[in-house]
Amino acid sequence: MWTICLLFVPLVAASSNTRLLNGILNHVDKEASPCENYYNHACGEYNIRHINDSFFDIIQMLDHQVNQNLVKLMDELERSSQSPLFTASSVDGKVLRYYLSCRGAPRNMGDLGQYLKLVSPGEGLTWPQFIMNGSSWPQKEFKWLDTLAHLHRYGLTNVFFKLDVVPNPRNASEYLVELDVPTFVDESQLPNSFIEILSIFYIMKVPSSDIISLARKIRKLELSVKAIINPNDILNAYINIRDLERESGHNWQRFFEILIGASASPELQVLARKFGYFSVLKELIDKQDARVVATYIMIRFARFLFDEFTNTRESMDCVSHVRRNLNLAASMLYKERFFEPSAFSASFVEINNMFEELRRQFLLKVDQNHLDLTAWQKNFVVRKAEKVEINVGNLPKTNDLRNFVSQYYQDLKFPTGQLDFHQEHLGVLQFRTQKMLAQIQESALRGGGYFHILEPSSAIASTSYYMLRPNVIIVPLGLLQEPFFQPDSDEVFKYSLMGYILGHHLISAFDTEGITIDTDGNDQQFRSQRFEEGVTCLSRNGKNIDESMGDIAGLELAYSAYSKKAKNRNRLDFTHLPPEQIFFLNAAQFFCGNSDMLNQYEEYEVRLQRAVDGFEPFDKAFGCSRIKPQHERCRLW
Ligand SMILES: *[C@@H]1O[C@H](CO)[C@@H](O)[C@H](O)[C@H]1NC(C)=O
Ligand SMILES: *[C@@H]1O[C@H](CO)[C@@H](O)[C@H](O)[C@H]1NC(C)=O
Ligand SMILES: *[C@@H]1O[C@H](CO)[C@@H](O)[C@H](O)[C@H]1NC(C)=O
Repeated sequence: MWTICLLFVPLVAASSNTRLLNGILNHVDKEASPCENYYNHACGEYNIRHINDSFFDIIQMLDHQVNQNLVKLMDELERSSQSPLFTASSVDGKVLRYYLSCRGAPRNMGDLGQYLKLVSPGEGLTWPQFIMNGSSWPQKEFKWLDTLAHLHRYGLTNVFFKLDVVPNPRNASEYLVELDVPTFVDESQLPNSFIEILSIFYIMKVPSSDIISLARKIRKLELSVKAIINPNDILNAYINIRDLERESGHNWQRFFEILIGASASPELQVLARKFGYFSVLKELIDKQDARVVATYIMIRFARFLFDEFTNTRESMDCVSHVRRNLNLAASMLYKERFFEPSAFSASFVEINNMFEELRRQFLLKVDQNHLDLTAWQKNFVVRKAEKVEINVGNLPKTNDLRNFVSQYYQDLKFPTGQLDFHQEHLGVLQFRTQKMLAQIQESALRGGGYFHILEPSSAIASTSYYMLRPNVIIVPLGLLQEPFFQPDSDEVFKYSLMGYILGHHLISAFDTEGITIDTDGNDQQFRSQRFEEGVTCLSRNGKNIDESMGDIAGLELAYSAYSKKAKNRNRLDFTHLPPEQIFFLNAAQFFCGNSDMLNQYEEYEVRLQRAVDGFEPFDKAFGCSRIKPQHERCRLW
């Protein structure tokens, strides 16, 4: 027995190492020199290898695998729902119901109109385009802020202003509502959005004689909103809604009552960023034709639903929809089904151990004090770094996950009758908003106990990220798969990919924004000449300063952590390639993408190059001699 086990373990490990190595080498273009353009070398064959695939890069590939697994899970749930033991009101029952209503609902683009019939601009009102022939639209009864409140209940935001629930920057142990100016798509996309408006009108069957002029008015309205945003206005007002109402002239009390669906205290605190905007906004909108304002809001809502919408009933699209809108439930079911508790703990421990090593390397650097920090500043950085925690799966910290999740979804009720996708979809959207708003009453979660309500677009992606004020790194379950992370593989693979990403996020805790936030998540002053010099250096080499900081310094952390681990080893038993080359090739996997599908790869190419440029261990690994490096390496820590 023992002999067999002992033999068996190294065999498994060896095969996963070989598999991972082959996967990496498959993407390498040996003809391209690693010293010139590293992306071309490390990722040169990516397109050819993935010519038949629907995904664009490694993260999308992992998501694809997650979705395939979820389809399997849904099929199993559907079978088990035949059993008398299955309860429709359980989390499993709710997820299955939502999935099946997505699968079963016949729908097409015209359904956008269906949604707009279900969601009116207010009590007893219809959208101007749905008015019966012969009757006129009751312009006087339309109150744009009330209408926005109704639509915010479904998660619409960024129309005339943005609303979010965030940790209070002055006291991050509580949440508050943040109001901010809207953001707009790039100038370069404007013609697109004009066409978009026209297509939405077309779908809504607005008579074609009107649409060009209406679309023009809508564009004009949007541009004038954009024009009243003063980029120099930096006044952030912490204000209760009574005073906000008095100062800005809008009926905010009513707005929040409609949004919350209950009475709102006039003492409710909000943070209004660029405060001056909100008064100017009122003047602007009061001057507009109400019909144009209503139509603009309708178009934006239709556009929002369009992103929410799956045009097909394919199983892959519907599981993605489930992830998007019932994310916590989907994560729990995924974890229960695809991770043995012992395997999950093993990965968890492994990731945390790796992170401890990265943190140690970071603290060593801080101790060397290249930045000339004062004792106070050093202490600040050390304390914050020590408090960074990792949440694997964006799951709450609890001994009984299933019970927690059941409680969480307790108030989400689906009708028992026929499946009705539109109704259920809108119900799920409302549920999410209410959960988001409910946080105002609760104290903020922090560190390891933190999990958060994901934006729909992040909920469907296995991208890891660092949350600034809670000071926590979220590692989605989707990353715990090959080729991204295989717990029994060699350290060289683990440190170069998962380790690199964790190092990147640790550095993010101290990027240009992170450095202004303290261990408890509150705003903080931090001035360091050397740090600013580092930032200036990064800005000379291009945009995305914060990302670059993580790419560059994160790679250094991952490399020194790995070197420390593999100190006494200069060769690997599964290949003749030097471990350092494998390290840098695997790190590049994160950046490889299919350039036939998306031009975002250019940005990845630049990021990868900047991460390795002038990095001595890299040059040594590939025998590059750069007498005059094209780009200087910016040093931060
Ligand atoms: C892509 O599909 C074609 C046709 O099925 C097949 O011949 C080819 O080998 C595939 N390429 C890869 C890299 O899988
Ligand atoms: C309004 O009239 C147009 C033609 O004049 C017709 O096509 C349309 O169906 C009518 N709409 C309603 C709601 O009666
Ligand atoms: C921060 O918020 C918490 C929770 O609302 C509260 O108990 C605490 O007193 C606040 N701290 C400060 C300094 O205001």
